[in-house]
Amino acid sequence: MTQWPADDDTELFDLIDAEVARQHSTLQLIASENFASPAVLRATGSVLTNKYSEGYPGKRYYGGNEVIDEVEELARTRAKALFGAEHANVQPHAGAQANLAVYQALLRPGDTVLGLRLDQGGHLTHGSPVNASGILYRFVSYGVTESDERIDLDQVRDLALEHRPRMIVAGATAYPRIIDPEPFRQIADEVGALFLFDAAHVAGLIAGGVHPNPVPLADVVTFTTHKTLRGPRSGCILSRAEHAAAIDKAVFPGTQGGPLEHVIAAKAVAFREAATPGFADYAASIVANAEELARALAEHGLRLVSGGTDNHLLLVDLRTFDPELTGKKGRLALDRAGISLNENTVPGDPRPPFVTSGLRIGTPAVTTAGMGRREMRLIASLLHRVLNRTDDDELTAVRDEVANLCGKFPPY
Ligand SMILES: Cc1ncc(COP(=O)(O)O)c(C=O)c1O
Repeated sequence: MTQWPADDDTELFDLIDAEVARQHSTLQLIASENFASPAVLRATGSVLTNKYSEGYPGKRYYGGNEVIDEVEELARTRAKALFGAEHANVQPHAGAQANLAVYQALLRPGDTVLGLRLDQGGHLTHGSPVNASGILYRFVSYGVTESDERIDLDQVRDLALEHRPRMIVAGATAYPRIIDPEPFRQIADEVGALFLFDAAHVAGLIAGGVHPNPVPLADVVTFTTHKTLRGPRSGCILSRAEHAAAIDKAVFPGTQGGPLEHVIAAKAVAFREAATPGFADYAASIVANAEELARALAEHGLRLVSGGTDNHLLLVDLRTFDPELTGKKGRLALDRAGISLNENTVPGDPRPPFVTSGLRIGTPAVTTAGMGRREMRLIASLLHRVLNRTDDDELTAVRDEVANLCGKFPPY
């Protein structure tokens, strides 16, 4: 018997090869996805996965952590420097864990919290009744205006004055506009609430300087590292020094066990990459590509929620284009044509979340692959062709064009 029997696990590694082929030959337009760099992949696949390191640098419950301590300290230092934060906790396994740890650190069960409505772009961890956030805390939702489909700050203020929340959460999972932290801070101050900014989606745009940095204004900022930030699949919490001890305690031992130090190492790599001048250009290109894609889709007669975008994603409302075409039907047809994206509710959507009337389209991954405005126009026309005519011949023809386009922009 060999020492490493998994080396010949072709059953599994053939599947990974198949996924590499899929990522190289189809269009990745899921707004929360990206292609991590080879250095990020290398750190994620390193021997750091072997180490148990419950605790924090200098205060571990296991021996042999002298190297690990340096890894985690490097990740913390780079995270703080990148965003100008007083404290960083790099241990959350993902964005959901980061948010739940913040709630556990700063709220008591039953406390009132304001968050964006889930069917208007908010996240499950912002008070969904099926998520721990909605089970443990009393979330009250604000929404977007009917007129311009942007966050209704008057409503945020009215609800804050009425409900006197302990915390106000800003941030979204499907909202195509800049979220300005300034008015949220003002409203939070007016009612004596804490202010959490969930930057899961836009962390890379903030790091790249194309969106306002909430760190100087918010009490706490959470984010995921795998979306626009282009790091490993994980989460992070930044906070003011006064909340550091409570947050660290809520992450470990409050809500997690041993940290994933190989992933923390990969986060350190991503924070360094995001601090380079090239990353600022990259972040600007993500937004420029989204704007171009939005323009081109509008020219094809598709309605965009809020009329366009100023971040990395757009939301298409299919109802005016084809009242019979649901988000789910559109997504399934696009999948067959080699285009990956997700269906999404749009403001005022009459359809349930697993059907929807919209599509969410993101540009981080195609931008990483090197595509620019010309390719965005081509992608818009391919999307339009599939949504316009979902028969097999057209889907096959589009799939060939998609493979041809992706062949010119290999991510690795
Ligand atoms: C706003 C927001 N918060 C939190 C999360 C949760 O991140 P994760 O999937 O890493 O748990 C997401 C993920 O999409 C998100 O969009």
